[in-house]
Amino acid sequence: MSENLDSLYRDIIMEHYKYPRGKKKLEDPDVTSEGKNPVCGDEIGMKVKLKDGKIEDISIDCLGCAISVASGSMLADAIKGKSIEEVKRIASAIKAILKGEKPDEDFDLGDLEALEGVSKFPVRIKCALLSWTTLVEGLETWESGKKSEIATTE
Ligand code: FES
Repeated sequence: MSENLDSLYRDIIMEHYKYPRGKKKLEDPDVTSEGKNPVCGDEIGMKVKLKDGKIEDISIDCLGCAISVASGSMLADAIKGKSIEEVKRIASAIKAILKGEKPDEDFDLGDLEALEGVSKFPVRIKCALLSWTTLVEGLETWESGKKSEIATTE
């Protein structure tokens, strides 16, 4: 990755960190999920509203580092209007990118591409994955019928 691309990605991450999308109140969520990065103890709370099997809205409250907040913000931008299956596939693609692998599918990842640079810093991969793991865990708990349970993940 060129130095210019590195600095572009850094700018995108810092912009999402400063102005995180999804940081708001969300009444009557269908899915409530909490996650914790076991490496540092930082936490995230997430609420999702579903409509016709798709993500209608999401709120994210992330008490973490710049990468975890930015990744959650990008997630909020990327998943609106997507079905649960699509969200899981995007989450798998993000996981692959963070491991430095090529995803099985090609997605237009938009700002999420900025997370590619994180693969060079293994200790930060869990930071970038925190919001995605929390979201998928929450959606799977909801799918399993435990609608009133809060999904928790580490
Ligand atoms: Fe805690 Fe990144 S250092 S989430």
